[in-house]
Amino acid sequence: MAKVLIGFMGSGKSTVARLLDDNFVDMDTIITNKIDMPIADFFEKKGEIAFRELESHVLEDLLETDQVISTGGGVVVSEKNRQLLAANDQTIYLKADFDTLYDRISADCQNIRPLFINNSKKDFRAIFEARQAWYEEIASQIIDVTGKSPQEIIGEIE
Ligand code: S3P
Repeated sequence: MAKVLIGFMGSGKSTVARLLDDNFVDMDTIITNKIDMPIADFFEKKGEIAFRELESHVLEDLLETDQVISTGGGVVVSEKNRQLLAANDQTIYLKADFDTLYDRISADCQNIRPLFINNSKKDFRAIFEARQAWYEEIASQIIDVTGKSPQEIIGEIE
């Protein structure tokens, strides 16, 4: 059974996944390799819907494995993905408040998130709020990561 980390952008999914397993799989990296361009460029050229379709296929394949998987924050937008993730035994939600996440995302110059650069702070907050219930309803475990070190978070993962 795959161990899947879900949560909004900036919640530390990849950092925690790497600590759980050096050979973790990062969905965004797989998708970037497939599309051969940065995700922000793909959003601009093909649109978010095309990205979500790709993301869904990648998720479905990965859930067949026993790997540690770091998802993209929007993986919960698709109902099919939510069903797949809810059926998975270990779907761990790394939960944090909006301001903490917004500060982290703003400071991250290496990972340019299209939804961050293309939305006002108000609209970005609305995206965050719309997703909260989805993360919570499909998670087998919810960890409040605000103010915690990656090691502390690892210690809480069952
Ligand atoms: C997205 C989150 C990103 C990436 C894409 C869309 C989202 O992943 O998949 O930019 O819709 O929340 P991270 O959560 O790893 O930043």
